[in-house]
Formats: sequence, structure tokens, C-alpha cells
Amino acid sequence: MSDLFADLTIRETTVPNRVMVSPMCQYSCAGDGLATDWHQQHLGSRAVGGAGIVMTEATAVSPAGRISTDDLGIWSDAHVDALAPIAAFIAGQGSVPAIQLAHAGHKGSKTPPWDGSTPVQPDGEGWVAPSPSAEAYPYDDDKTVATMTTEAVEGLVEDFRAAAERALDAGFEVAEVHAAHGYLLHEFLSPVTNRRDDRYGGDFEARTRIVRETTAAVREVWPDGKPVFVRVSATDWLPDRESWTVDDTARLAGDLADEGADLVDVSAGGLHPDQQVPNAGPGYQVPYAERVNGATEALVGAVGGITTPEQADELVRNGRADLAIVGREHLRDPYFTLHAAEELDREDAVEWPIQYRRAV
Ligand code: FNR
Repeated sequence: MSDLFADLTIRETTVPNRVMVSPMCQYSCAGDGLATDWHQQHLGSRAVGGAGIVMTEATAVSPAGRISTDDLGIWSDAHVDALAPIAAFIAGQGSVPAIQLAHAGHKGSKTPPWDGSTPVQPDGEGWVAPSPSAEAYPYDDDKTVATMTTEAVEGLVEDFRAAAERALDAGFEVAEVHAAHGYLLHEFLSPVTNRRDDRYGGDFEARTRIVRETTAAVREVWPDGKPVFVRVSATDWLPDRESWTVDDTARLAGDLADEGADLVDVSAGGLHPDQQVPNAGPGYQVPYAERVNGATEALVGAVGGITTPEQADELVRNGRADLAIVGREHLRDPYFTLHAAEELDREDAVEWPIQYRRAV
């Protein structure tokens, strides 16, 4: 029987325990997408804290793929150079360095949240935000959104492929495709935001094509021994209209395994301001992970409202998910995994760094 401290070998990569630091934007670049000392300290300290996988925030595959001007990017060799010491430090602590590859789509070109997440215009520091269907995004008046041509969609696959190649050069061992939270790939999946009539819009097959192609492209350049993850929103939380549902996600999860995805990271929502979140209590998205778990050959990660060691341990112990993905609790406690080992009486499983042992 597995528990939170059981290691997990995916292909030839062994993750020392079942805790993953969820990707969390830090809005801490200086407008150029380059990682800074903040990213080094932020991600580095969570590796010191013992998490099995430390994943970067959404890292844009192109400049127009950022949410804000201060997001991380990986579209040039300079980005590789800035990220490489971070990946090396994470690995040096015994954690697995992971990167989330992302395109913000129509949610991009905004100021950071602490500046109001307001639109930044293309004639300033912003850009025209690409979208599957610009007309489906009417609720942000000041925003310049453009419908992507078919050629641009094909180019997106190549941007993800090139970003994965660079991520590998930077030393990451897990690549995650971000297809959740209303960003570009999710916008293609959902009939709410995808009204295209080319081969990337229409029925389930057509709407999921870009996510399948992107996953396949990343898999193609990612070494056979290293894992590829895909983060999805299990549902749009829009029960009042035709939208992306948990059934759709379960079906897609099977297809993603066929494209070489090793783990489906199951989140939810983020597409539309009308979303109705049914119950944002502890583990509020875990039932979606369980549903997906029964529908795919891939492993499954659960995220959302996992804040205690007991909760995380229970998920793995009862086979509800393979990975406990912890976001905000890691902002409160970078040493979540070390503290979990103490609380669950498993100090044998994960050790404080040697530099800190006089305090233990
Ligand atoms: C996030 N989240 C997020 N998700 C993602 O896929 N990529 C990202 O870059 C971000 N950025 C981000 C920033 C901040 C500050 C927060 C709080 C959240 C969502 C996050 O990874 C996670 O899915 C949710 O926070 C739910 O999990 P928790 O926080 O309840 O454990």
C-alpha cells in the first residue's frame, strides 16, 4: 500500500514522495520573462522543504502567452540560462524539477494582480491576446483579443515543442502542459469559448485536437525516461449552458494517455466569470481526480484545498490519486512535506537538510 511518503517511479524518473508544489505565478520578472532571484528563492525553498516535485509557475511558450508582463517565459536561450540554476538547485535538494508550459490566450496582457489585473493595451507594454474565437470573450471591454488563424494554431504546437526542448536544456525533468483555468488550451476545449469552424473547432474531437497535438509534440521532444503531465480543468462549472464537463475530461484523459501523457493533473474552472463553484471546501476538486483516475491509463494528481498532511496522505493511501498537489499551503509553509513527516510520524522518510538539523 502506498502512502504520502512512498516514492513513485514514472518512466525512469523517481519522485521521492507524493507531494507536488502546485504551479503558482509569482509575477516577479522584470517584463522580460526571465527568472529572477525571487524564483530561485521561492522554488528553491520549497525543494528544501522536501516536496517530491517542485513545479514552476505557468511559463509562457511565447511573449503573447504570458498572463502579465511579469510572468516567466521560456521562448529564448536567455530564458534557459535564467532557469537552469533553479532546476539544478531543486534537483540538488533531491526534488524533481518540473516546469509548467503555458499560453494565457485571451486571459493574457494584464497587469499583475496587485496592480488590479487590468488590461494592458497593445500600444503600451501589452499585446493582442490570441483566442480560439475572439467574439466569445465579450466580458472584458478594454481588452484587444484576436481570433487565431489556423496557421497560428499550428504555430502554437511548435511553440510548445520548442519550449519543451528549452525546458529540457534548462534541466527540468517533468514538463506539464497547462490546459486548464481558462487559458488558451482550455479555451479550445470548451464549447463556451471555441466557436471555430476549422479542424480545431466543432465536435469533441476537433476541440480537443490542439491539446492532443500539443501533448504529442511535447512528448516527442521529451526524453522517453522523463514524465509529461497535462493540467486540465475537469469542468467549466457552467451547468446552465453547453460547456466542458467532467465526462469530457474523463474521455480526454484516456486520449492524453494515448499521446504519451504520464499524469493528468486535475484542476477545475477558471474559464468564465459566471462559473458556479459548488463547494470550495477541503479537497473540493478531489472527486474530479477520482473520476479521471478511473478513466485513464495515466496517473492522476489531485489539487485544490489540500492543506493538511492527513488529507494528502489519505488521498494516496486510498488510491484516490497518485499525487497530492499542494498550492496555497506551500505559500504558508514552504516546509509542508517535512512538517507532514513529523505530523504523520514518518521522519524516516524525508530528512531536513543537513544545514538545519541542529534545529530538529
Ligand atoms: C495559482 N494557480 C495556478 N495554476 C496553474 O496551473 N498555473 C499557475 O501558474 C497558477 N498560478 C497561481 C498563483 C497563485 C498565487 C495561486 C494561489 C494559484 C492555481 C494553483 O496551482 C492551484 O491549482 C490552486 O491554488 C488550488 O490549489 P490550493 O491552493 O487550494 O492547494
